[in-house]
Amino acid sequence: MSNKKIALISGAATGIGRAAVVRLAEDGVYDMILADWNKAELEQTAQMCKEKGAAADSVVTDMGKEAEVEALVKFAADKYGRVDFFFNNQGAIHMPKDFENITAEDMDLVIHSNFKACFFGMKHVARVMIRQKSGHILNTGSSSGLRPETGFSVYSATKHAVIGLTKVAAIEFARYNIRVNCLCPGGYITPLTVAVGQYMQEHSYAQPKSSVALLGPAKMGDVSEIVGMISALADDANTSYMTGAIVSLDGGNTL
Ligand SMILES: NC(=O)c1ccc[n+]([C@@H]2O[C@H](COP(=O)([O-])OP(=O)(O)OC[C@H]3O[C@@H](n4cnc5c(N)ncnc54)[C@H](O)[C@@H]3O)[C@@H](O)[C@H]2O)c1
Repeated sequence: MSNKKIALISGAATGIGRAAVVRLAEDGVYDMILADWNKAELEQTAQMCKEKGAAADSVVTDMGKEAEVEALVKFAADKYGRVDFFFNNQGAIHMPKDFENITAEDMDLVIHSNFKACFFGMKHVARVMIRQKSGHILNTGSSSGLRPETGFSVYSATKHAVIGLTKVAAIEFARYNIRVNCLCPGGYITPLTVAVGQYMQEHSYAQPKSSVALLGPAKMGDVSEIVGMISALADDANTSYMTGAIVSLDGGNTL
């Protein structure tokens, strides 16, 4: 067995998660377990990882279902006995609509994939980390969790919740030497934001109050502009005295 550290990355199939996995594979520090509910794209990410010479198991998981998260964490614990780094990254968004037009289905999706999924991931990975008395959990929040994002009311609220979970867990888990931090991306070009952009164009939707970034030619980031920070945060040497931190990479869109 290799003596690498063990990372679990959820929401690993596409976008920021996939780019982070490829970067961590290049770093060569971790053997990885990849989770997502999109089987085909997840397997593609695992393949990209293996091409970089890093071990990567893919475990198809709906992170919003507690039993599936338990099974995922059991897989990691049975195979490696530990989880050193957990990038708790899955997320979903409802299409932009004024508050009064948000549907129950819109709510169900984002509460499931952003709030419940974040919580269940933290809860079950923390149980392993409590046993080993160490670990780092990095949640993916959003600039929409730091300030209101009009047109995305429930998404914005769930990302505020991710920041709330991060802060409470940072306090509760400090006694076990577990650090909990939150990365807040602004607008990056991924399948999630491309779908939103298309919907906005097709429906001529304009946000009641827009939140445009200051940096970048298209005022959007490329995932290559966030993976370096994820790689740095995955390195214990950089984060040993860091917990409850909310790290923004948003091109200034929260200013
Ligand atoms: N792209 C951005 O501009 C941006 C900005 C702020 C925050 N974020 C956050 O970054 C994270 C990654 O998003 P992305 O932009 O890469 O989008 P993406 O759609 O490419 O990636 C999200 C991944 O999460 C997976 N997922 C969603 N719900 C899941 C569930 N219940 N169980 C398992 N997997 C699930 C999807 O299948 C997908 O692979 C999300 O939490 C998102 O809210 C993205």
